[in-house]
Amino acid sequence: MSYKCAIFDLDGVLVDTAKYHYLAWKELAGKLGFEFTIEHNEMLKGVSRMTSLDILLEVGNMKDAFSEEEKVKMATEKNNQYVEYISNIDESEILEGALSLLQELKQKGIKIALGSASKNAQIILKNVGLESYFDVIVDGNSVSKAKPDPEVFTLGAKTLGVPYEECVVFEDSQAGLEAAKIVGMLAVGVGQKKDLTNADVVYSTLKDFNIEKYF
Ligand code: BG6
Ligand code: MG
Repeated sequence: MSYKCAIFDLDGVLVDTAKYHYLAWKELAGKLGFEFTIEHNEMLKGVSRMTSLDILLEVGNMKDAFSEEEKVKMATEKNNQYVEYISNIDESEILEGALSLLQELKQKGIKIALGSASKNAQIILKNVGLESYFDVIVDGNSVSKAKPDPEVFTLGAKTLGVPYEECVVFEDSQAGLEAAKIVGMLAVGVGQKKDLTNADVVYSTLKDFNIEKYF
């Protein structure tokens, strides 16, 4: 099968920002008086900001302890901390194999889309210098439904005029892989096999991805 379009998740696939999300959530949990581990954090990958907060509060047995208003305040506090972390990042945060894969796809004339849940995607792409590789950028500001809903991927494919089954999605989250599979896109997991059971195929980094096999 020769695929026509590559759709990339951002955090944890192209850039090493998942760790900053984790740090910011961990700090919030600390303030609330409970520990939030790296294992708990797996559940937040790919998930929207407010859903992440709900999952975190459930971990701390505080599911119903706060009003909507208080929750918005907490999510804003987490985001402010996160934005502080990412405001000075540069190309050193680009993950292994990401830049060369984007370059090779471009050379081959493959369409490239971003499919990220993050509302901070634009600033991250700009800071690390990857903006120009994308034919379309779909992020948390452009969609109404979060992963595992496939909207963030289908919007990109539709904009580029590529049928879903000719798209490859690169993801580090179970929610994102599930979203890709729902609409028949090839779901490539980037990370550890044990965490990414929804994937069609898993590579530990983008460096290991065999471009000739798929494009
Ligand atoms: C995803 C991350 O890319 O974006 C999630 O994997 C995060 O952890 C989500 O919650 C939303 O990001 P942001 O930057 O809008 O809070
Ligand atoms: Mg991710």
